[in-house]
Order: sequence, then C-alpha cells, then structure tokens
Amino acid sequence: MARPVLGDREEELVLEVLRSGQLSLGPMGPRFERSFASRFAPADVVASAVSSGTAGLHLGLRANDVGEGDEVVTSPLSFVASSNAVVYCGARPVFCDIDPVTLNMSVDAARAAVTDRTSALLPVHIFGTPADTPAFESFGLPIVEDACEALGARHDDGSIVGSRGHAAVFAF
Ligand SMILES: Cc1ncc(COP(=O)(O)O)c(C=O)c1O
Repeated sequence: MARPVLGDREEELVLEVLRSGQLSLGPMGPRFERSFASRFAPADVVASAVSSGTAGLHLGLRANDVGEGDEVVTSPLSFVASSNAVVYCGARPVFCDIDPVTLNMSVDAARAAVTDRTSALLPVHIFGTPADTPAFESFGLPIVEDACEALGARHDDGSIVGSRGHAAVFAF
C-alpha cells in the first residue's frame, strides 16, 4: 500500500538476529511483541506475532468461537485475506455494502446483513481509514478488526484503531 520505511535500524536488528545463530524462538519475537503492545495496545491486551495477517485473522475468529455454519459480516472491498480467514473457519463471509466516503463497511448495511447465524463482524480499516468500530460495538457481536492496512490510525475520539475490537490484526 505504501513504500516500506526500512533504514539502518532495521538492518542492524536483522543482522543481530542473523549473527545470533538463533532464527526461531529467540528473544527478538517477545521483544517485538512487548514493544508493539506498549505503542499500540491498551494495557490489558496481549500482542502475539504470527506468520501473516491471514493467520492472525484466522486465529482471531477462532478465538471468538467462529466456526462451521456461522456467518461473518465483512467488507467486499478488501484484500482476499479477510474473507479467506472466515472460510478457513468453515463460516461464510456475508458482504455488506461500503460507505462511499470512507470505503469501509456501512453501519446501516452491516446491521441489515446480520441474521441469527451471524457470529462476528469483521470490519476492514481499508487504506488506513478507520471503519466505524464505535458504531459496530452497539451490535453486541464479537468484532475481529482487520487493521492490516491501518497501523497507527486513530478514530475520531483518539482511540487507536485496533484497540476496541475483541481481536485486531495488523500486518507490515
Ligand atoms: C486488508 C488486508 N487484510 C489482511 C492482509 C494480510 O495479508 P497476509 O496474509 O498476506 O499477511 C492484508 C495484507 O496486505 C490486507 O491488506
């Protein structure tokens, strides 16, 4: 979505790992998780590094009990990862229309898409623009936020995108 910012510090840290001789289960993963959480997550949140955004979304849905036969209301304007994660759970992505200004899930369309089989909402914060998570909270359903394109974005009330749902996934 944007040119990555990779400088001397990133090179230094990659070299530190390569020269340590330990490429997995070393100290860098937990160090990254701690530092990520202190910057982007409320104090009671657990940050876990996983192999991809898809894996994070899959785990986030499973952690919220999304399974066989369920429906998850999500955005049709996204990378395929958000729908794939729903399908991996045996559930069905139900697309609702997007807001023409934010390009994110319309709150009214999402409400109309909810049925008694809906087990979660999966809003996507597309192109760094926050979806209306505060409004989705009123639905009383688990919210798994796809914040893969919105690291560092904030809602109008100042809350960090990804800090309000029951699970949120970022990618790089
Ligand atoms: C909206 C969105 N969701 C999820 C992902 C995660 O994709 P991946 O599984 O390739 O890390 C991305 C990556 O670009 C994305 O743009």
